[in-house]
Amino acid sequence: MVAITRTGKFTRTRRTRRTESLRSLVRETRLDPAQFIYPMFVTHGTNVRTPIDSMPGQYQLSVDQMEREARELSEVGVKAVLLFGLPADKDPEGSEAYASDGIVQQAVRELKRVDPSLVVVVDVCLCEYTDHGHCGLLTPTGEVDNDQSLALLSRMAVTCAEAGADVIAPSDMMDGRVGAIREALDEAGFESLPIMAYSAKYASGFYGPFREAAGSTPQFGDRRGYQMDPANGREARREVAADTDEWADITMVKPALAYLDVIRDVREHTDLPLAAYNVSGEYAMVKAAAGNNWIEERRIVLEILTAIARAGASIIITYHAKDAARWIREDRA
Ligand code: PBG
Repeated sequence: MVAITRTGKFTRTRRTRRTESLRSLVRETRLDPAQFIYPMFVTHGTNVRTPIDSMPGQYQLSVDQMEREARELSEVGVKAVLLFGLPADKDPEGSEAYASDGIVQQAVRELKRVDPSLVVVVDVCLCEYTDHGHCGLLTPTGEVDNDQSLALLSRMAVTCAEAGADVIAPSDMMDGRVGAIREALDEAGFESLPIMAYSAKYASGFYGPFREAAGSTPQFGDRRGYQMDPANGREARREVAADTDEWADITMVKPALAYLDVIRDVREHTDLPLAAYNVSGEYAMVKAAAGNNWIEERRIVLEILTAIARAGASIIITYHAKDAARWIREDRA
């Protein structure tokens, strides 16, 4: 090859960074509001919009507020929500989780009534509904009983499907739950309902604000016996493979920011659609710093979401969804 002598100082990459139009032409990652899922906390009562202190801009909402939320989301182009329920009463079995008229089932019905095109995803887990705050049933000695929990999680999935849910998202981390839920859905006639599995879900300190929002802090112990150890990256592949074998339709890594390497690694080892959950603690940190004017919120949020997409997630679950969608549209205009 003949070496070509150049006298100019610009490298190839700098030449394509000169103007916004050029940068946009060579851009590798683009965010789209249609890839966001907006999480919501649904509570009993009417006209309830209780602010969540550690998550400024997020609320516990009563079912009558769903119409307003659906309208706001549709205005900015966000097409999917993820629902968490706050029950009227908690008990050892988490009974409201799988009641036909439970809070989350009511919210699903209302959302599908006001906007049939909205993708309504339901988080399937018992921790918001149990008085002990663990994600499954307990044995008499206080251990989480994996197999007994599967039947209740399956019942929750079926009652949500009956209410009109579009996607079932088990977040409990019991072994075999994806297969158990798949079988229960199929038996109940919901063969076409997809499952988005929280496959690589870490035992993370970043869920702190969520536990305030959902009142789901374990009353004793922690979740390290069923959620993943933050030190383990390769193990995420095994979790994803297990859920894939059990016919998960979409897989997930959670949290997102401290786990970008896991997102990338999982992306390279599965062909399933991959979601990442930009969790409550990640949101709270941005809001706290932005509230103090220490960082520029808009710039930071879009940078974070772009990084999650660049790492390999095509679906992003984020409390920033509405703001980010608005900013993306403004930037495009
Ligand atoms: C469990 C669940 C949790 C989150 C989503 N589903 C909490 C936990 O595992 O303790 C956390 C989400 C967030 O922090 O934003 N139902």
